[in-house]
Amino acid sequence: MTNTVVLGMQWGDEGKGKIVDLICPAFDAVARYQGGHNAGHTVKFADRHFALHFLPSGILHGDARCYLGNGMVIYPEAFFEELDAITEAGIDAEGRLFISDRAQVILDLHARLDQAREAARGADKIGTTARGIGPAYETKAARVGLRIGDLSGTDLESRVEQLMDHVGPQLRGLSATAEAELPTVAELVARCRGWAERLEPFVRDTTKELNDLIDHGGSVLFEGAQGALLDLDHGTFPYVTSSSATAGGVAIGTGVAPTRLTGVLGVIKAYTTRVGAGPFVTELHDEVGSHLAKRGNEFGTSTGRPRRCGWFDAVAARYSRRLNGVDAMAVTKLDVMDELEEIQVCTGYEIDGEIRTDFPARISDLMSAKPVYETVPGWQQDTVGTLAVAELPQAARDYLALLQDLVGAPVGLISTGPRREETLVVDSEATRRILGGKLDEVIAGRGA
Ligand code: GDP
Ligand code: IMO
Ligand code: MG
Repeated sequence: MTNTVVLGMQWGDEGKGKIVDLICPAFDAVARYQGGHNAGHTVKFADRHFALHFLPSGILHGDARCYLGNGMVIYPEAFFEELDAITEAGIDAEGRLFISDRAQVILDLHARLDQAREAARGADKIGTTARGIGPAYETKAARVGLRIGDLSGTDLESRVEQLMDHVGPQLRGLSATAEAELPTVAELVARCRGWAERLEPFVRDTTKELNDLIDHGGSVLFEGAQGALLDLDHGTFPYVTSSSATAGGVAIGTGVAPTRLTGVLGVIKAYTTRVGAGPFVTELHDEVGSHLAKRGNEFGTSTGRPRRCGWFDAVAARYSRRLNGVDAMAVTKLDVMDELEEIQVCTGYEIDGEIRTDFPARISDLMSAKPVYETVPGWQQDTVGTLAVAELPQAARDYLALLQDLVGAPVGLISTGPRREETLVVDSEATRRILGGKLDEVIAGRGA
């Protein structure tokens, strides 16, 4: 049994999409367990380029069945748009793409609420993706949200009324124009019925399907969106997303019990980035930061916003390794550091004159923390597309060994370019276990 979780260890955009696309031929199914179209996963191979938001990154490579789990929040319009785009690109998703009947529905009013709340916060805004993710999880927790299965239910009208009674006053309180923009119950019901019809071929009890597949010896890759430090409970609250992006979220978000998960692959950038507001201890405001942003093309896949860039933060990464039980790491974007003369790695935080190596909970501590750095030499050589560890420059190997030591998990994959072909798979016990022994298949599929 191999059921591997692939998740981001930092603040998102670690390159999860690329790694999932590469390794998915080793699995029978790929399932997302949280988030919505706040995610943006870029997948590139040969001369092709895809930006995925809802669809698991396993949809493009091989024939894995793809699931959108019950822990997700789904805006049907955006789902259809993405489905049309991949169909147009010649990818056949029919019969292998499924949505949980228990996933929550995002409506336009959730997005409006998200935008109105952010505007009201002014300088304190979180910098959300403005897509209604937070409000959709709020109506779920308030037990008034609609689930995908409800869209075709006989009680739809009363459920919509209940939702409007909950959200309407909040929107009116935040926005003077809300009243005119709010749909009537009848309009919303009609829209939901239209969605239900088009969604019908995709909707399943995905919890049962995933468990049945595992019962029959199948293997599942669980694909995380966002990153551990954006997790609602464990991240830099309140500057987080509203779902459980950590490994613990898998069981809740798919209905596959923790006892069935066999390994965790943590995707981590060789430096750090963050989009939106919130503390970022190793952030660089100098020319090195601009260099990483430029060379790493650090602009959001979903919103196009520039990503903040900084040095590798081993305090945060170690915290993330512990939270997720990371068995191996996929280190991405090593090539982006190719030209640097010197590299710094944060090994501790100085807070109120004290050095701390644990990741603090309080935002005020994180905001005032000064990074303690270890400085190592850069390699100043081209690493793009390197396929063997022995061919990496010695200083790059030393850098990876340092990250491995500081974080406490072995490096299993090394990415040195955006393309599927530009990934080094380390032949080790950890990678073989994560891939269920299908290391050779993954390597063979790398150029396909
Ligand atoms: P995700 O949200 O974790 O899937 O990551 P994104 O796709 O949002 O952001 C990662 C970006 O880096 C994408 O534009 C990828 O094409 C790109 N990328 C991934 N791995 C590498 C790498 O090793 N080197 C370089 N230069 N780019 C990479
Ligand atoms: P992927 O899957 C990076 C950030 C937003 C904001 C905060 C809350 O591509 O790694 P939300 O709209 O979720 O309520 O925004 O979370 N955020 C991401 N940052 N990558 C993502 O996804 C993100 N999804 C949300 O920028 O700071
Ligand atoms: Mg992304």
